[in-house]
Amino acid sequence: MRHKTVYRCSECGADAPKWMGWCPACSASGTLAEEVLLPVGTSVAPSVPIPIAEAVGDATEPVPTGDSELDRVLGGGLVPGSVTVVGGEPGVGKSTLLLQALASVAARGATCLYVTAEESARQVALRAERLGVSVPSLWLVAETSLPRVAGHLEALAPAVVVVDSIQTVFDPDLGTAPGSVGQVRGCAQRLVTEAKARGVSVVLVGHVTKDGALAGPRVLEHLVDTVLAFEGDRHHALRMLRAVKHRFGSTHELGLFEMGESGLVGVPDPSALFLADRQPGVPGSVVAPVLDGWRPLLVEVQALVVPSTAPAPRRTAQGVDGGRLAQVLAVLDRHAGLDVGRAEVHVAVAGGVRVSEPGADLAVALAVASSATGRPVPADLVTCGEIGLGGELRQVQRTERRLSEAARLGFGRALVPRSAPDAPDGMRLDRVTSIGEAVHDRVFRPQPVAL
Ligand code: TYD
Ligand code: MG
Repeated sequence: MRHKTVYRCSECGADAPKWMGWCPACSASGTLAEEVLLPVGTSVAPSVPIPIAEAVGDATEPVPTGDSELDRVLGGGLVPGSVTVVGGEPGVGKSTLLLQALASVAARGATCLYVTAEESARQVALRAERLGVSVPSLWLVAETSLPRVAGHLEALAPAVVVVDSIQTVFDPDLGTAPGSVGQVRGCAQRLVTEAKARGVSVVLVGHVTKDGALAGPRVLEHLVDTVLAFEGDRHHALRMLRAVKHRFGSTHELGLFEMGESGLVGVPDPSALFLADRQPGVPGSVVAPVLDGWRPLLVEVQALVVPSTAPAPRRTAQGVDGGRLAQVLAVLDRHAGLDVGRAEVHVAVAGGVRVSEPGADLAVALAVASSATGRPVPADLVTCGEIGLGGELRQVQRTERRLSEAARLGFGRALVPRSAPDAPDGMRLDRVTSIGEAVHDRVFRPQPVAL
């Protein structure tokens, strides 16, 4: 018997009776995919309620991959039977990351399978050679057909399988073209079923579109347990791994790597790395302890303010939000008497780091003020705080953790909002209430000169 089908939009979930090039409900184009409707009542076995106390502790424990940065983001490792998607732009290093991770799992004795559906086995083998990967229990197969992948899972019974990528495998039973929305979703669904049935950890590579969303159906994110985003800037070696969704743990951890000649190397002490090339005592340079997820990072915020005769002088912001910079400049003008309207203003976070939280406001403001006046801030000073539109300073979350990180790296002074918690050992706090006070009284007041 042929089942009834509908065409369902992968963006909004609306149904259409026939295929169209765009969704009649949300107008997204190319998002309708055929779906089989199962007759009501033919679904799965009846569900049985259980006392929640019996279910507690029933969750499977994550198994460490041995890659400390990946394990940090996953909250310990890969959970058997789970499905993880690693999304990222082409060239960021997804294949490298997963081949290394798989080699690390295999080196601990577990059987692992790398399915390449995009590159040839030879290309992957060349990468493995470059990475120095040769582990007997790591298997490689070039395969795009999903039923055959399932066959390999049956035969090899690996603990972990990587499928690179979910956009290039296809299931002929689905009837739609390889790479289509229906294929991506159908294949992911089938792999979820395989993962649960066999207890194998499935890791899928997923390409992302220019705006950073996973290509293919958004529903992919709903189907899997974990979605990791792998990011980096083409001109820097730094790579960041974050959990966007994580059914087994927090999404607040950050993994950091550097892409080198022989693969990705974890960065256990990023603050030291970011500050390695800093020139202390230069006007326009201010160190800020910021948070990425829950990980405190010390970054150098730099500003360069130069006179301009242009009617609308340039402003550039690298690593900080341009809108946020404009706001800080407006507050500096109104509440600190620092007018940079006739100057070019460039602000950058050194090292290719992106700061997307208000904790860096105060550092941006001080860097601009420092460059505009040509007066450096003390070399052992850090600062963090949010600037309100009234020029008031507000404490930011986890200030204690940020300051401890600064103290660990040898910073002895911190300029903070008045309500900030006590300083860690070995650090002195300068508490200020407003941006005006911060700029004039504390940082730029004449320093006592030792005789
Ligand atoms: P790759 O893992 O192929 O990226 P993705 O799968 O996300 O498309 O790696 C892409 C880049 O990384 C490529 O330009 C070469 C570079 N690379 C290194 O710099 N060092 C290395 O050891 C490897 C394997 C790759
Ligand atoms: Mg790749």
